Amino acid sequence: PIESLKLNNGLSIPNVALGTWKASPDDCYNSVMTALKSGYTHIDTARIYRNEVSVGRAVNDFLKQSHLKREDLFITTKISPFEFQDPENAILDSLERLQLDYVDLYLMHHCVAEVTGEGITPRDENGFRKHISPEVFSYVDAYRLLQNLVAKGYTKSIGICNINSPKIQRLLETKDLIPPAVVQCEIHPYLPQHELVEFCKANNIVVESYSPLGSTGAPLLQDSVIVEIAQKYGVTPACVAISWAVARGTVVLPKSTTAQRIKENMFLIELDEEDVNLIGSIYKRMTKRYLEPKWKINVYDSDADFNPLT
Ligand code: A2P
Repeated sequence: PIESLKLNNGLSIPNVALGTWKASPDDCYNSVMTALKSGYTHIDTARIYRNEVSVGRAVNDFLKQSHLKREDLFITTKISPFEFQDPENAILDSLERLQLDYVDLYLMHHCVAEVTGEGITPRDENGFRKHISPEVFSYVDAYRLLQNLVAKGYTKSIGICNINSPKIQRLLETKDLIPPAVVQCEIHPYLPQHELVEFCKANNIVVESYSPLGSTGAPLLQDSVIVEIAQKYGVTPACVAISWAVARGTVVLPKSTTAQRIKENMFLIELDEEDVNLIGSIYKRMTKRYLEPKWKINVYDSDADFNPLT
């Protein structure tokens, strides 16, 4: 069953969420509705997914039909880098699209600010995303502005995505900043990010694992170790990969627009410690990362991450 984890600000977060990245607006409405009716209480969207309107319509339609109240649900959205210099305006725009009074979690989508006024993914002539020099305006500056949104009641918690431990450390060391409640990264058996997960655990930050099946094409479903463990427990490979993310104490965000899979993905099993460790070692023979930096700048710079541009 889905359980709640405690955040460092005393609030709770359900440990399974429906991911909506790459879900088109129509698919998104249907999948959020299916998920909520099936018992999910946590939905993850973002400005950049262009589906906040559908998420909001599904959430509000569901609440009209259900005995659940807004406070029984956990809704996450993310501020895009082109909005980093004006988070208040950004969250008000997101709340308007979502038709909600507040979100439960507002995440910075990346660790780099982009120029404003050139669309939602500003790019230079070579196709690189157009960032602002971190000396002028950094992710730390954006994070500082984000804090005001909690006091104003627009979001209950804040956090950051696609980050590494040194950059989190910098936030923790900066005066007058509240620690992020949540860090969301691509994490799956081909990219287990052991160091990052341990670092966050030690610092009381909840980690969210996106792309738990290995992202596009869900390659982990064909992995021999995952398939073998699935057969042993009599479950699907998806169930093994998702249950592994939960066994590590992370929140898992499986994305699906297929009703049957949405339902399947909330079914968890308890894996033996031995199997948790075995799955956590698959990366030694096979590593795969979907999300790569699109900026001409060091965005990921820890030993656990890589930057093909440097
Ligand atoms: P679809 O949305 O068509 O159901 P990830 O969260 O790792 O990024 O995974 C997303 C991909 O995995 C999507 O292509 C999604 O397809 C597919 N997927 C999600 N759940 C399952 C499942 N239980 N079995 C097989 N494929 C799945």
